[in-house]
Amino acid sequence: MKEIELKNENKIPALGLGTSGLKGKECTEVVKQALELGYRHLDTADMYGNHQAIARALNETDIDRDQLFITSKIQSQDLEYKQLFKSAARLLTELDLKYFDLLLIHWPNPDIPVEESLKAMQELKADGRAINIGVSNFTIPLLKEALDAYPDLITVNQVEFHPTLYQKELLDFAFKNDVILTAYSPLAQGEVFNNSVLKVLGEKYDKTPAQLALRWLIEKNIAAIPRASSKEHLKNNLDVFDWNFPVEAAREMELLDQNNRLIDPGYPDFD
Ligand SMILES: NC(=O)c1ccc[n+]([C@@H]2O[C@H](COP(=O)([O-])OP(=O)(O)OC[C@H]3O[C@@H](n4cnc5c(N)ncnc54)[C@H](OP(=O)(O)O)[C@@H]3O)[C@@H](O)[C@H]2O)c1
Repeated sequence: MKEIELKNENKIPALGLGTSGLKGKECTEVVKQALELGYRHLDTADMYGNHQAIARALNETDIDRDQLFITSKIQSQDLEYKQLFKSAARLLTELDLKYFDLLLIHWPNPDIPVEESLKAMQELKADGRAINIGVSNFTIPLLKEALDAYPDLITVNQVEFHPTLYQKELLDFAFKNDVILTAYSPLAQGEVFNNSVLKVLGEKYDKTPAQLALRWLIEKNIAAIPRASSKEHLKNNLDVFDWNFPVEAAREMELLDQNNRLIDPGYPDFD
C-alpha cells in the first residue's frame, strides 16, 4: 500500500476505510473484513457513534498496533481547551486505544479560537496521546490561521474532494504549506457511478468509476477514505495501486469539476 509522507516524516496510508454510517455489529464485521483484506487505515469520528464497534474489531485482530493508522475527530462543540482533553480521553477509552495516529478538529467552530484548540492538541501530541494532528473542513483562510498559530503541528486537512469537486486552489495552498489533504466522500457518496465520463473510461480500461476516482486522488498525493460495506466494494477500492493509470483517463478527469459540494452546512463559507 502506498503511504504519503507528512511534514513530520510520519506516514499515512494513501487509502483508508471511511466508517461514517457504519454502526454496531455491521461496523465491527466490515472493519474486520477490511483488516483481513489489507486495510490498515481507519477513519472514524466521535460523531459517527461507532468507536466501540471499531474497538471490538481491533481487539479481535492480531495485527500489531504500530501497523495500524487510526484517525478520529473532535466535535466542534468540544473544541474549548479543557473540554478537548475530556473529549480526547473519552474517545481513546471508547476506541480502547492509548493513542490516535491522527487526531483532527472535525469541523471549525466560529466561537472558539483555533489557537485554543490547537494548544490542547499540541499537548496531546507532546504526551503521546496523538501522533499526528490535523484539521478537517478548513478553507484556505482558516487553514492559514491555524498554520500561522502552529506551523509545524498541522499535518493534514481532511476535506470533501472528488472528481466533481476538484479543490485545486486548496490543494495548491496545502502543498505549498506541506499539508496533506485527505479526501472524504471520494466517491461523491456514490455519484461517481452515474458519471457518464467515468463510466466510459471505466469500460475502456476495465476499471470501476470508484477505482478511477480513488487513483486520480492518490496520483495527486491525496489520501482517500472511501466508505464501503460489502467485501466486493472493499476489495475493489483497495485494488487501485498495481496498474498503470492511463494518461488519457487522468487528462479527462481533470475536466470533471462541477464544484459539486455534497456537504455544506453553511459554515465555513466554502465559496
Ligand atoms: N470530515 C468530515 O467532515 C467528513 C464528512 C463526510 C465523510 N467523512 C469520511 O469520509 C468517508 C467516506 O465518505 P462518504 O461515506 O460520505 O462517501 P463515499 O466514500 O464517497 O461513498 C460511499 C458510498 O459508495 C458506495 N461504494 C463504495 N465503494 C464502492 C464500490 N467499489 N462500488 C460501488 N459502490 C461503492 C458505498 O456503498 P456500500 O456502503 O454499500 O459499500 C456508499 O454508498 C466517511 O465514511 C467518513 O469516514 C468525513
